[in-house]
Amino acid sequence: MAQKKALISGITGQDGSYLLEFLLAKGYEVHGIVRRVALEDPEHRLSRIVAFQDKVHLHPASLESYASIHQVAVKVRPDECYHLAAQSFVSYSFDDEFSTLNTNINGTHFMLSAIKNTNPDCRVYFAGSSEMFGKVEEIPQTERTRFHPRSTYGISKVAGFDLTRNYREAYGLHASSGILFNHESPRRGFEFVTRKISSGVAQIVAGRQKGLRLGNLDAQRDWGHAREYVEAMWMMLQQPEPDDYVIATGETHTVLEFVSEAFGCVGLDYRDYVTTDPVLFRPAEVSILLGDPAKAKAILGWQPRTTFKDLVREMVEADCVALGVGNAVRS
Ligand code: NAP
Ligand code: GDD
Repeated sequence: MAQKKALISGITGQDGSYLLEFLLAKGYEVHGIVRRVALEDPEHRLSRIVAFQDKVHLHPASLESYASIHQVAVKVRPDECYHLAAQSFVSYSFDDEFSTLNTNINGTHFMLSAIKNTNPDCRVYFAGSSEMFGKVEEIPQTERTRFHPRSTYGISKVAGFDLTRNYREAYGLHASSGILFNHESPRRGFEFVTRKISSGVAQIVAGRQKGLRLGNLDAQRDWGHAREYVEAMWMMLQQPEPDDYVIATGETHTVLEFVSEAFGCVGLDYRDYVTTDPVLFRPAEVSILLGDPAKAKAILGWQPRTTFKDLVREMVEADCVALGVGNAVRS
């Protein structure tokens, strides 16, 4: 059988890097869309995928330009396209609503349109989000729960979800959306709360930081491991029919529980280090997310494997090891 070709947008991000690894191991020829500046500064901008640089084909293109994405689609002619690129930080979407909407909605529209126009048999994955549920209308959230987004980020993902469904219904594109709940790893960006906590703990242990300032500690999230969530993306594109799937652990924890567990990993009491700062609270919060992954389990055969405690430990350990204080992590 001919080697399959995959095209990933957002390949430099947390999920893109795990997906790249996963697809290479499956024997795919992997192509990635990156910003042109990433090729100029690979040390910083390609840090998550540097180990695979000689195995991946990178193409500069802009999410703001249909023409540039069309060109890449023509050149690569992928069998599968994973559209992960987005302004993904919810907090930032309150600071710059306009660019979040532009990048996320137009970027998704351009990608869907370019694939439809150049390569209509290509299967497409859209990175939807549990942020679409926002002010949740039921607990747990399923594929049938109504969306009530609470940020322009969430609104942009609802628009991307609707565009994806419309390309499926109007043009027969094999396009699926994953409604992924929060997923983390040692490759998570430093601004997201889990990595801010794990790296903060490591900084404190290494004597580089005295305390940690956080926002809303009562928010509840359904946190899983990114490595497992990218497997679900691939599984969706192997189905005979495109569809939408909730990917979650089915467990929810408060930010405070994450904090307490993370400091506990190095034998510290978080109360001696953590303060809250109203500046870090969001104008509109998503208070609780809890996903029901039953459909993914029944149809894709996907299940989460990493427990909450193991996820926290892996992240704290990786950050401590990076600062040379790995021995502080309790066994
Ligand atoms: P991430 O680490 O923030 O990566 C985002 C990727 O998008 C990076 O490769 C980034 O490129 C690229 N990107 C951002 N803005 C861009 C622009 N204007 N032009 C071109 N590329 C741009 O995010 P992630 O955690 O891997 O998430 C992947 C996708 O899943 C995102 O769409 C996110 O919204 C969605 N999602 C994530 C989660 C989660 O918990 N992680 C849950 C649900 C949905 P640079 O490196 O050049 O910035
Ligand atoms: N970032 C951050 N920083 N969040 C904080 C802080 C802080 O100092 N203190 C408390 N929080 C709370 C936020 O208010 C939010 O309720 C929760 O921690 C999680 O915040 P993030 O880690 O920034 O993630 P998110 O849930 O807003 O968004 C992530 O998950 C979505 C899926 O539900 C991102 O990965 C999105 O791209 C993704 O779609």
